[in-house]
Amino acid sequence: MVSRVIPVDPFDLVIFGGTGDLARRKIIPGLFRRFCSGQMPPEAQIIGAARSEMTDAEFRIFTAEAIAEFGGSAVVEDGMLDAFLDRVGYVVIDAKGEGGWKELSARVRDNLVHAFYFSVAPSLFGDLAERLHEHGLAGDEARIVVEKPFGKDLESARALNAVLEKHFDEHQIYRIDHYLGKETVQNLMAVRFGNVLFEPLWNAQYVDHIQITVAETVGVGGRGSYYDQSGAMRDMVQNHLMQLLCLIAMEPPAKFEPDAVRDEKLKVIRALEPVEPHHIVRGQYAATDTASGYRQDVENLRSFTESFMALKVHISNWRWAGTPFYLRTGKKLKARTSEIVVVFKDAPHSIFGVDAGRHRNVLAIRLQPNEGMTLDVTIKEPGPGGMRLVDVPLDMSFAEALGPDAEQATEAYERLIMDVIRGNQTLFMRGDEVEAAWAWTDPIIEGWIRRSDVPKTYDPGGAGPEDALVLMHRDGRRWRELKA
Ligand code: BG6
Repeated sequence: MVSRVIPVDPFDLVIFGGTGDLARRKIIPGLFRRFCSGQMPPEAQIIGAARSEMTDAEFRIFTAEAIAEFGGSAVVEDGMLDAFLDRVGYVVIDAKGEGGWKELSARVRDNLVHAFYFSVAPSLFGDLAERLHEHGLAGDEARIVVEKPFGKDLESARALNAVLEKHFDEHQIYRIDHYLGKETVQNLMAVRFGNVLFEPLWNAQYVDHIQITVAETVGVGGRGSYYDQSGAMRDMVQNHLMQLLCLIAMEPPAKFEPDAVRDEKLKVIRALEPVEPHHIVRGQYAATDTASGYRQDVENLRSFTESFMALKVHISNWRWAGTPFYLRTGKKLKARTSEIVVVFKDAPHSIFGVDAGRHRNVLAIRLQPNEGMTLDVTIKEPGPGGMRLVDVPLDMSFAEALGPDAEQATEAYERLIMDVIRGNQTLFMRGDEVEAAWAWTDPIIEGWIRRSDVPKTYDPGGAGPEDALVLMHRDGRRWRELKA
């Protein structure tokens, strides 16, 4: 496979929160990889901006350390790191006051794309937007990039949209959901709309149900105070799982263009039915003899926040009426696996009689790790003894099929940042999309608050609470096993 890197135009990227964790782990190493690949041009400039007192030289050391720690193992040509560091600078900035803004405007060059990455608490979004506007940095060439959490409910998301839209047009606002930057998530669109094979069967007539799983083995780590205010519903379902659901369920857009794709996703979200309380399972991982549980991890021994969610969801439209979508996500589970499983209906009539048993085609799309697809196909079991049938997988690993280039696929953040520079919003959430997702989420959360719902505990290293299994068993179905 030949990789074709098309350089983007020169740009100035300002990272507010430039000394923070996201900058260190994802943004800076990602930019460096794009620089090494030739996609980020040597004329580009990266400016870290944060409250900490730091000189350009000190920020370059911070940058070099971030790259050493999180840059990956790719072999880098001599001189690349120094060439990259030459493009890096730093400004001490006060988001709420005047400090640093004159210097920042002096450093940002005219007639180039200006990207401002808001890698800061959402409470500062309004201040940053205001300051950028006051200092003449909110012109047509400006783009702002904002991170999740984009609000904690519909009201706060509307308020955030309002403060950003005061000074920036929608086409200048890039709301990141890093799942959309994942190679295999984009592959969902390629698989669905690049093949003639699947689309005719992609509907309630042929699909029995769809499962979407995003399982993690890690706990809440050092993010306890954020996570306890958020929980799996706000942290994962409202955004990442919702985006996966949209891509798997949406109608084919007429073109692979930002608004064409986002219009179709929005229609899916708006067609989601309210979720019945008995179709919701919340869980919290328990402590073991050797490891702390959720409540100890978040230092809140009375916490009722969920670290696991499973839901049964319906989409009320012509294509999906009657086909359930089962969603689950959780921390401290048996395996780190993200996959979408499309379970097709039984053949309408079996010519082989009851002895042949029950067989189904199942398409599993593995998003991470071991990206690939498996399609279970029914064939005759070899040997004598009549027509016994067996389901065997057609298994494709993208890494094997595409060679080493597939393994070096661009990471989510770096791809998304390059899209910002190119001005391509296809993989970013539009304001109305985020609001629609909250409009569906809010009543679910309000419902469990009203019912004083207590999450079920589950053992770390398993598949979540028993109730999540029951959610499917009640319907005569079961989750695909989480493979460690
Ligand atoms: C983040 C969540 O958005 O996604 C984290 O806040 C979660 O809680 C992470 O761990 C998962 O992302 P990935 O790319 O590791 O699947």
